[in-house]
Formats: sequence, C-alpha cells, structure tokens
Amino acid sequence: MIKVITYGTFDLFHYGHLRLLERAKALGDYLIVGVTATDFDKIRGKINVQQSLEERIAAVRETGLADRIIVEEYEGQKIDDIKRYAIDIFTVGSDWVNYFDYLKEYCKVVYLPRTEGVSSTEIRSKAKPLRLGMVGYSPFLKKFYNESQFVNAVTVAGICVPSPDTLPELKENIDIYTTEFSKLLTNIDAVYLHSHPDKHFTECKMALEQGKHVLCESPVTMKVEEYEELLQLAEKNNCILMEAIRTAYITAYTRMLLLLKSGKIGEIVAVDATCTSLTSEEHVGNNKKWGALEAWGPTTLLPVFQILGTGYEMINKFSLKNKENRDFFTKLDFSYGKATASVKVGTGVKSEGELIVSGTKGYVYVPAPWWKTDYFELRYENPADNKRYFYQLEGEGIRYELVELANAVRNGKPDFYINRSVTKGIIQVMENSLS
Ligand code: CTP
Repeated sequence: MIKVITYGTFDLFHYGHLRLLERAKALGDYLIVGVTATDFDKIRGKINVQQSLEERIAAVRETGLADRIIVEEYEGQKIDDIKRYAIDIFTVGSDWVNYFDYLKEYCKVVYLPRTEGVSSTEIRSKAKPLRLGMVGYSPFLKKFYNESQFVNAVTVAGICVPSPDTLPELKENIDIYTTEFSKLLTNIDAVYLHSHPDKHFTECKMALEQGKHVLCESPVTMKVEEYEELLQLAEKNNCILMEAIRTAYITAYTRMLLLLKSGKIGEIVAVDATCTSLTSEEHVGNNKKWGALEAWGPTTLLPVFQILGTGYEMINKFSLKNKENRDFFTKLDFSYGKATASVKVGTGVKSEGELIVSGTKGYVYVPAPWWKTDYFELRYENPADNKRYFYQLEGEGIRYELVELANAVRNGKPDFYINRSVTKGIIQVMENSLS
C-alpha cells in the first residue's frame, strides 16, 4: 500500500484545494491530509485565515478524499508524521517547489502543479474590508496603522487627531479629520478609540448610535453604569463593542492562562503584575496627561481578573500624585480570601515589569515586558522540573486584536478573549480608585 501525505490551511476551501487533493490521492492508495492548527498558522505569521480549524477540517472531510485527517501543530512535525505513519510520498503544490526537498531523506517528495487563478488569499481579498477610523494621540496610532497593514480584513480609512500636522507621514494614505469626530464616523464601519479614557463614553456612544462598531482602549468607560448603557446600545444597533488590551491576544499570554487553569502550579494564591514607564509619551493624548492607573491599570488588572476573577473582598490602595493631582505611581492590593493580588503601575517611577503567579505547587514567571511577551516559564521547587514556553509574537498583539475585531464583526458575535465581567471589573476599579 502506498501512503501519501499532504498539508495545507485549506481556508475557504476552493477548486485549487480539491484538485490538489484529487491528484494527491491518485499518487497512492491511502491519503493523509494535515490541516494546520489556527495557532500554528498564527505563530508562523499567517494571521488572516478566516475559518476555524473545525470548519477547515470539515471541508477537507467533505471531499471524501482523505483517509485520515491530522492537525499540524508544530514546526518540524512533517518529519515526525512521515516516520509515524510510514509515509511513501509527501506532496504539495508547486508554489512550494524545492522548499520541502529536505524531506527527501525520509520519503519521495512530489510537487504538483498549482491550479492557476485561485487562492484563499484572493478569495479573502474580494470581501469588502472593514473601514476603520482611528481616534487619539499620534505616535501610538502610527504603530497601530502600520500593524493594520498586515490585516487583510481591515483598512484604515481615516484618523481624527488634534492637529492636521500630527501625522504628516499618514496624510497621503488616509483622510485626516481634526477633531471632527462625527465627520469621521460617516465614512467608516468601525472606530478604534485611543483617546483619553474620560472621552471614551461620549465617543463610544456617538459611534454606536450611528451603528458603527467600536474597538476601545481600556478602560472602555470610567463608570460601570456607562459601560452597561453602551452594551445595551451596541446590542440594540447590532454593533460590536470590543475592549482593546493587546496583551489578551498574544499567544504566549493566552497559553499561560490555559496552563494555569489546568492546574500546572496547583492552587493559585497570588498574582503580582507590574507595568511602569518613565516616558509616558504614549499616554499624553488629547492634550491631557494620563495618570499611571489610567495608562497602565487595565493591562495589569487583566491577568488578575482573568486568573482570580472579580470576586475580591477588598482593595488597599497606595498612590503618589503630582502637582496636577494625577497619580504617577499606584499600588493596589486585592484580597480574595484564599488568594491575593497586587498591581503596581507607574508613569513616573521605574520598576521591573514582570508578572508572577504563585501557586501551591510552583509559579509562573513572565519576564519584563510581560504585557508583550513571547515567553514564560513554569518554575518548581526542583529546578529540573522547570519548563520554558516560547511562542512567536509579531506586532505586540495589535494585528491579532484587529483580526479578532474583523472576525467579531463578520460573525456578529463578540470575541471571547476578554469577557464582559473582566471589562466591568477593570472599570469598577477605575471608578473606585479615581473618583
Ligand atoms: N493549492 C493548489 N492550487 C491553488 C491553491 C492551493 O494546488 N490554486 C495547493 C497548495 O499548493 C497546497 C494546498 O493546495 O499544497 C493547500 O494550500 P493552502 O495554502 O491552504 O491554499 P492557498 O489557496 O494557497 O492559501 P493562501 O492563499 O492563504 O496561501
């Protein structure tokens, strides 16, 4: 029996995929099809895939050509699979010619001519991209704009900045609206808000009232009551209201949460998160300086609430304020009965920006800057048991966040990365601590 194996993403299954599978099957008697896992695609930079792994597997299964379907999850897996399944022939389309010659050591390698004129990329590009407007302070928005270039499903159509000269380099590509937020709204499908948190409620409300989707930097509002009003409005107008904390979309961070939930360090007793910056350039938008808690609070609170929940019993607060009565350092301690959490934020104080989660069997250590990490460690009493985890990261999570916004809008369902109780928890802390 001749065993053949082939791999692909098979997003939005098309005629080229079908022809490839038919010819692959005809090369032998038994065909194994490897479908790439979404996370594997994500860490190798293929972030625009639209369908879930389950949908892509179902499409391959429906052809009736695959005798077995497997999932491709890691670099180098092809060699393992060829050995494990005693494969005779590895085949892929001619777009990969020579690329897989290294597999000739293990089996025969056949490159099949690629079907002309069709590809998943092309099908995806025919869908109308989400027209996004940006609002806020310039340096970060430039980064955000650059990141949006990696996301096919989104195009930045306009920007609302304090002065027309704030982003000269973007002028050629996008329309600039100085303070004319309502005008910007008429030309877009969704808006990204990176304005001062004090302005979020009004801006979110205006956008949602006009049926525009919203991606809003955290805290979405400064009062829980306001957030609830926005949620109702979003529901009424069939809009997505999504909180933007880019850390939540980073693979290393999400994997760390899963390991914690599966008990790898035992019962969790403490979460300690620190974020500080001396140059708070990113956070001086709209002519208003940001306090440390406004700038960094949501990021540090994210792991606390995602790991321990929002059912804490009390908070202790220590804050240092400047002449303008804005905090430049704040430390919050949460008591949960059987666990505790502590967050330290600063815009005028420097500390080690690490995240430590302590448990009864071991701890998680995420080195600085943990909020844009590609790496973390599980550490135990016996150092020989320690484990290190690395997940490729591109663009600080911003491009993944944008992909999720486009997916949420397409599916008409909020994304599942940050649930509403966490968003509310963050707002509640801001409300209690800043009012
Ligand atoms: N393939 C093909 N002819 C096409 C498109 C794909 O023969 N017109 C083959 C590829 O060479 C590969 C397999 O189908 O062996 C799965 O390809 P995949 O990368 O999933 O599809 P693409 O359409 O190339 O996807 P993308 O545009 O996202 O790269």
